Amino acid sequence: MSAENPITQAAVDEAVQQALSAIAEAADLAALKASRGTTVGEQSAIAALNALVKNLPNEFKAPSGAMIGKARGQLNAAFAEREAALFEAEEHAKLAAEAVDVTAAGQPTRIGARHPLSLLQDQIADIFIGMGWEIAEGPEVESEWFNFDALNFDEDHPARAMQDTFFVEPVESHLVLRTHTSPVQVRSLLERELPVYVLCPGRVFRTDELDATHTPVFHQVEGLAVDKGLTMADLRGTLEHFARIMFGPDAQIRLRPSFFPFTEPSAELDVWHPGAKGGARWVEWGGCGMVNPNVLRAAGIDPEVYTGFAFGMGIERTLMFRNDVRDMHDMVESDVRFSEQFGVTL
Ligand code: PHE
Repeated sequence: MSAENPITQAAVDEAVQQALSAIAEAADLAALKASRGTTVGEQSAIAALNALVKNLPNEFKAPSGAMIGKARGQLNAAFAEREAALFEAEEHAKLAAEAVDVTAAGQPTRIGARHPLSLLQDQIADIFIGMGWEIAEGPEVESEWFNFDALNFDEDHPARAMQDTFFVEPVESHLVLRTHTSPVQVRSLLERELPVYVLCPGRVFRTDELDATHTPVFHQVEGLAVDKGLTMADLRGTLEHFARIMFGPDAQIRLRPSFFPFTEPSAELDVWHPGAKGGARWVEWGGCGMVNPNVLRAAGIDPEVYTGFAFGMGIERTLMFRNDVRDMHDMVESDVRFSEQFGVTL
C-alpha cells in the first residue's frame, strides 16, 4: 500500500470548520436556511469531498466514507441546533413584541350618555307603573279624528289652524303630526277593557320656531284613568303623589279653573316647587280635568256608568324648571356634555 489517501483528515476538518463557522454566523433563520446548500447540502465542501470517495482506490473507500459520514453527522447536528436556537429566539422576540399587559388600566372611551328627556320620561313611567298603571302608545302621525274630533274639538277650534298644527299631505288624508298625547286617550279606551289606567309618554309636534323656550318637536306625558266612581279628588291625589316624587316631599299642587274641549271641568295644574332655583315658588306644570262625557261617548263608553280624569304635561318644560335648564337648544342639540350632567353615561 504505497499510495496516500487523498482525502485527509485535515481536509475534512477544514471543510467542517468552514461550514461550522458559516452556520454560527447565520444571524437569523432566513440566513441559516439560505446557507443550507453550502454548509450541509450538495454545494458544501464536505459534499465535494464525498464526491471523490467513489473514485478512490477500494481500500480508502471505507475509512474515507466513515470519516466524511461522521463529519456530515456533526454538521447536520450543528445546523439543527442553530436552527432550533434561532427559531426560539425569533419566536421569543415575536411574543415579546406582541405582549399585552392585561393589568394595564383601560383607556376610557366616551360613548355617550342617556338623554335627560329619556331619563325623565322613564322616571315618570316608573312612578305610574308603581301605582299599577300601564304604558300606552299611539302613532306620531295621527288621524285628525283622534287628535281633534274625538276629543270634542269644534270644527273651527283655533288649535286646528295651520299655525299650530303640521298637516300631512295630501290634505284629504286628514292626517296630522299629533299636537298632543291626548289622542292616546281615545285609542286606549277603544283598545282596552275598562277600567283603564294608562300613562302615555311621547313625542308631539307644533309649528313653533325653535327658541330658548319652544321647539317644534317636544314630548308630553299623558295620564288617563277611567273607572266607576272616579272624582276630582282622585285626580288631585294622583297628581299630588306624582308631584312629591318629582319635586320632593314638600311639593304641593294647585288647580286653577281652565278650559280644554276634552275635559270638564278643566284645570291648569301648578306645582309648588320647593327646590326651585332662586327659591320655592309655584310653577305652571300642565293641564288636567275630568274626562268630558263626549270623549267617553266617542269611545263607546256610557258616561252615566264610568267617569275618568286625565292630565298632560310637557317633559321638556318639566326638565327645564326641575333641573334649571335655561335654554331649549341644549335639549335638542344632543351635545353629550349636556347629557352627561344628568348622570347616566354609557
Ligand atoms: N293635551 C293638553 C295640552 O296639550 C293637556 C291636557 C291633557 C289637558 C289632559 C287636560 C287633560 O295642552
